Amino acid sequence: MWDKVQETVNFLKEKGFVNPDFGIVLGTGLGNLIHIIDVEKSIPYGEIPNFPVSTVKGHSGNLIFGTLSGRNIVALQGRFHYYEGWSMQELTFPIRVLKFLGIENLIVSNASGGVNSKFKVGDIMLINDHINMMPEHPLRGANDERFGVRFVDMHEPYNLQMIKQFKAIAKHKDILLQEGVYLALQGPTFETPAEYKMVKSVSADAVGMSTVPEVIVAKHMCMNCLGLSVITDLGIEGKVEAVSHEEVQLAAKIAEKDVSLLVKEFVAAYQ
Ligand code: HPA
Repeated sequence: MWDKVQETVNFLKEKGFVNPDFGIVLGTGLGNLIHIIDVEKSIPYGEIPNFPVSTVKGHSGNLIFGTLSGRNIVALQGRFHYYEGWSMQELTFPIRVLKFLGIENLIVSNASGGVNSKFKVGDIMLINDHINMMPEHPLRGANDERFGVRFVDMHEPYNLQMIKQFKAIAKHKDILLQEGVYLALQGPTFETPAEYKMVKSVSADAVGMSTVPEVIVAKHMCMNCLGLSVITDLGIEGKVEAVSHEEVQLAAKIAEKDVSLLVKEFVAAYQ
């Protein structure tokens, strides 16, 4: 793994991916951000050595180098999910690459089902903690100390300084920001009513199928993480309705403009 990461990093550095300030995973809800990034380089995943290639509709795969609010960013346009069949090590490989391109600050976004009765479809939730209920752990197996320690501290999975600044920006922009705990399940099925109830009963606020493996691997390498989730459907008792991938994409669109604006402002302000 180490050699593969270094090989990919060297390839990208030669292509001009140098001195990045932020890594951004453009999950559902942040796809729009691509329109306000000044893209200098866009490389299809298939042309990058060792990169996995995404198969899900609406998750096209390109690695982007560009500037946002005058800061250098590397963005993953398209992410990899466990339910697609990737191993945890494969799907988090790009996060390892971001770290060795020199990135310390990671911004991740996703879509999720809200189980908090205060939430509505289209809300933006700042992820302040997570619960990992994926069936496999990305750090299982021999630990390579060059990446990080065996037993990773997770007392602050989402960086408190980033959270504080992000909240201040949302307040300043008068954009409603929910806050809560994201619980990760493997999917690809959406939850049954009983499963949504379980999610709520373990004190989570939203449930989705991504992000947590990436944040775990980022924390393994001591990166600072900011997580955003767009609530695209509700798993609230008595109100659980049918949901489809298309509806999730459509609901995410409601929030995309605001999410992009907040991230743009955040990137400009965060030191
Ligand atoms: N459950 C899991 N993943 C999701 C959901 C959901 O309700 N909505 C969007 N992604």
